[in-house]
Amino acid sequence: ETGLTTFDPGFGNTASCRSDITYIDGDAGILRYRGYPIEQLATQSSFVEVCYLLIHGELPTSDQLAAFNDELRRHSAVPSGLRLLVDTCPGSGHPMASLSIAASGLAAFHTDNADPEDPDQVETATAQLIAQLPKVAARLYRNSTGKESISSDLSLGYVENFLHMLFGDEDFDQETKELYARAMNLLLILHADHELNCSTATVRVVGSSGANLFASVSAGINALSGPLHGGANQAVLEMLTEIERDGGDVDRFIAKVKDKSSETRLMGFGHRVYKNFDPRSKEIKKLATQILERHGRDDKLFELALKLEEIALNDPYFVDRKLYPNVDFYTGLIYRALGFPSNMFTVLFAIGRLPGWIAHWREQHAESNPRIARPRQLYTGPAKRDYPGHG
Ligand code: SDX
Repeated sequence: ETGLTTFDPGFGNTASCRSDITYIDGDAGILRYRGYPIEQLATQSSFVEVCYLLIHGELPTSDQLAAFNDELRRHSAVPSGLRLLVDTCPGSGHPMASLSIAASGLAAFHTDNADPEDPDQVETATAQLIAQLPKVAARLYRNSTGKESISSDLSLGYVENFLHMLFGDEDFDQETKELYARAMNLLLILHADHELNCSTATVRVVGSSGANLFASVSAGINALSGPLHGGANQAVLEMLTEIERDGGDVDRFIAKVKDKSSETRLMGFGHRVYKNFDPRSKEIKKLATQILERHGRDDKLFELALKLEEIALNDPYFVDRKLYPNVDFYTGLIYRALGFPSNMFTVLFAIGRLPGWIAHWREQHAESNPRIARPRQLYTGPAKRDYPGHG
C-alpha cells in the first residue's frame, strides 16, 4: 500500500520509480488517486477538482478551487499564432497529431513559461495546458467537420465551456446539457491518471532530460495515440463496426481472435496490470447504459459489445489469460452517442490524462536529485569482428 511502482524505465535512481500519485492493485481491481477510490471521485468530484488533487496532492478547499478555476480562465487564451497553426492542420489529418503539435507549440508561443527550473513558470505552464488544450481539441473537431469554431464562454464551468465550444450551436435542452456535462466530467476523471502507463512513462522519460512541460506532454500525446494504448477506444468502435458489417456474427469474430494466426485482438480487452475488472470500465459501462437509454437508441454496436463481453467473460481463452474489459471497451460507444467522430475519441482521452501527465512530470522534477532516464539493453548482435583489411 506504499504506492511503490516497480517499473524502472532506467532512471537509475529508485526514487524515480516511487510515486505518491496513483495506486493500482491489478489483482483486486483497485484504483485510487492520492488515496481516494476512483468510484468515489467519479461520482462525487469534478474534473477540475481532480486536476487539483492529482497535481497538488490534496483536495482543494472551496477557496483554493475557486482560485484554481480563476487561474485556468486567466491562462485560457490560445496564442493567435497557435490558432493559425492548428487551423492549417488539414481536417483530414488525425487530430492526435495536431494536438501534439499544439502542445509542443505552446513552448514556441509561450516562451516566457517554458523554463522547467522556474516554479512560477511551471505553475503557469500547468494552467495553460489544462486550459488551452481543450480549446484546441474543440477547434480541431469543428475544423474537421467544416464548422465555424465557437468562442469560449468563461462564465461557464470548465467542462460546460468545453462542451459549449464543441456543440454550442446544437439546440440541446437544459437536461441534455446537464447529462453531457455529467458524462464528460465522469469520463475525464476516469482517464485522469493511471500510474506509469506507456504515455505517462514517456512524459517522465522525456522530462528526465530537463525538457519543458509542453515538450514532455507532447511526447505523451504521441505515445497515447497508439492502438494498444489510448488509440484502443477508436479501435474498439472500428472492431464493432467490422463485426456489424460482417452480419453481427460475434462467435465468428471470437473464433478469429482465438486463432493466433489471424493476429486479431479483442480491442478494449486485456491490461498489463489489471488481471481483474478495470474499475473504470464498470463506471463507464453504467454511464453507457444511461446515455444510450437517454438517446432511446437501440445502439446495435452497444448490443454487440454486450454480447462480446458476455462471451469473452465465459470463454476459457480469455478467462485463463485474465482478459477483462478495460477503460477503452465502452468509452467509444459513449463518445459516439454524444456525437463525436471516432478520430476524436483518443483526443478526449488525452484531455482527461493531462493532469496525470503534469502531476508525474512535476513530481519527478521535485525530486532532490532527478536523473536522466537511461534504460540499458541486452546486446544480442554479432561479436567483435574486424573491417576487411584490419586485424
Ligand atoms: C490502456 O497501462 C495502462 O494503464 C494503460 C491504460 C491507461 O489508463 O493508461 O489503462 C489505457 O492502454 C488500456 C489498454 C487499451 N488497449 C487495448 O484494449 C488493446 C487490446 N489489448 C491488448 O493488446 C493487450 O491486452 C494490452 C496491450 C492492453 C496488454 O498487453 P500485454 O500485457 O503485453 O499482454 P500480452 O500481449 O502479453 O498478452 C498476454 C496473452 C497473449 O496470449 P498468449 O501469448 O499467452 O497465448 O493474452 C493475449 C495475448 O495474445 N491477449 C489478448 C488480448 N490481450 C492480450 N488476446 C486477445 N485480445 C486481447 N485484447
